[in-house]
Amino acid sequence: SGSPRPRLTFIGVGPLGGTYAACYAELGYEVLGYDVDSGRIEKFSAGEMPFYERGLDDLVRKNVDNGRLRFTTDPQEVADFGDVHFLCVGTPPRKDSDSADLAYIESAVTTLAPLLTRRCLLVGKSTVPVGTAAWVQQLIDKHSSPDVEVEVAWSPEFLQEANAVDDVLRPNRIVLAAQSEWADELLQAAHKGVFELAAMEDREVPLVKTDFATAELVKVASNAFLSTKISFINAMAELCEASGGDVNALARAMGYDSRIGHRFLRAGIGFGGGCLPKDLRALAARGKELGVGESMRFLAEVEDINLNRRTKVVRLAAELCGRENGPNGPELSGLNITVLGATFKPDTDDVRDSPALDIARRMSNEGATVTVYDPMGMDNARMFRPELRYGHTLTEAVEGADLVCVLTEWEEFRHVDPEALSDLVAKPRILDGRNALDPQLWRNAGWTYRGLGRAAD
Ligand code: UGA
Repeated sequence: SGSPRPRLTFIGVGPLGGTYAACYAELGYEVLGYDVDSGRIEKFSAGEMPFYERGLDDLVRKNVDNGRLRFTTDPQEVADFGDVHFLCVGTPPRKDSDSADLAYIESAVTTLAPLLTRRCLLVGKSTVPVGTAAWVQQLIDKHSSPDVEVEVAWSPEFLQEANAVDDVLRPNRIVLAAQSEWADELLQAAHKGVFELAAMEDREVPLVKTDFATAELVKVASNAFLSTKISFINAMAELCEASGGDVNALARAMGYDSRIGHRFLRAGIGFGGGCLPKDLRALAARGKELGVGESMRFLAEVEDINLNRRTKVVRLAAELCGRENGPNGPELSGLNITVLGATFKPDTDDVRDSPALDIARRMSNEGATVTVYDPMGMDNARMFRPELRYGHTLTEAVEGADLVCVLTEWEEFRHVDPEALSDLVAKPRILDGRNALDPQLWRNAGWTYRGLGRAAD
């Protein structure tokens, strides 16, 4: 074909596969994206975005235009095109347990396998329970023609939403698990563009070659570690509240020890999103299945601490509004509460397992009239929680509020002028669930300010 590079397919073009497909086209590969969701494929094919990811729209448009990036719903086209197939489908929790549901993986593999007509590599990228790669190889062997050699390899991804384009183009490490010399070489050829870009920018990308089980574990272990770090600092926040300490200063001081580091030590209402919470539960469940449940027990604590933050914020809201926290929990009826932030973190429109939206729901359940505003997540929030009220703008949302809660640390919220806002609200009380605001600024403007893990007035 004259092309020095393997042709790549990405099976499943959601936030993970869609980002990979566009970025690898940008790196010079010929790429075909596949999905069973024809709506997604139509949008991408037209150079449009079926979901938001910062900076991705430009890459999609550019590479669809130059012809390196194409999309299809036809699995035969995928089979005919690809030298390397990347498996990027979702692994949501099962309906009946915390374990990951491998139905999308199974259906992608059993659809593709019988259509394959030449030697190729199937590379797992999805987040899976340890042991899945070996099972995928068995599925392939069972469902593909005995005349074609199809090898499975594994290479987990570590994308952070809102930073996903950069995370693909400039990863902080690449983990590869291949079962043969041939697969290893092809896998490296499929990642060559990343190493070339790094060399051009005078960076190194650390490469870890390992076995299937380790490659699968790197992903879930990393996410569990990040969750643990967040819950650790949130537990310290409780300690600060009980003792008069300041968790922001504590985290800052701790982080200067380079063995600890500053990142993922922001205390607040805890972690959410489509990955950390589900991966944490799935890892605990898998550990139990493998007979090491005892050693995974702390993961349940990590989750408990995380969920307790939400309960805590609702109680704090009642306290700030002078309400009793009775035996049946906090009482918020008759109160107008504004929740600023609906997404699970800033710079995304994603509300999956969003602590902000969950707290809004809990407050509404306790009787408050909750009005939500988010710079980007309104459509998704409305779809997911139609029972809540929504303001078109920040000012509209805070009108008449007895309490304003900042639950996602959007840049817009940091620049709000407390003086101007106090004219709109019924009572100048602010609960800063992400410790994102300057307490002094708000207090000077006459507000009752409460952060988490920080002393009260
Ligand atoms: C996370 C991981 O960070 C990625 O490395 C991983 O690849 C990805 O999951 C995945 O498995 O696909 P993401 O879900 O995009 O990425 O979000 P994060 O930036 O990790 O934030 C997760 C949650 O933790 C957010 O709700 C955020 O507000 C919260 N968080 C984060 C804190 O409460 N404190 C912190 O210090 C950091």
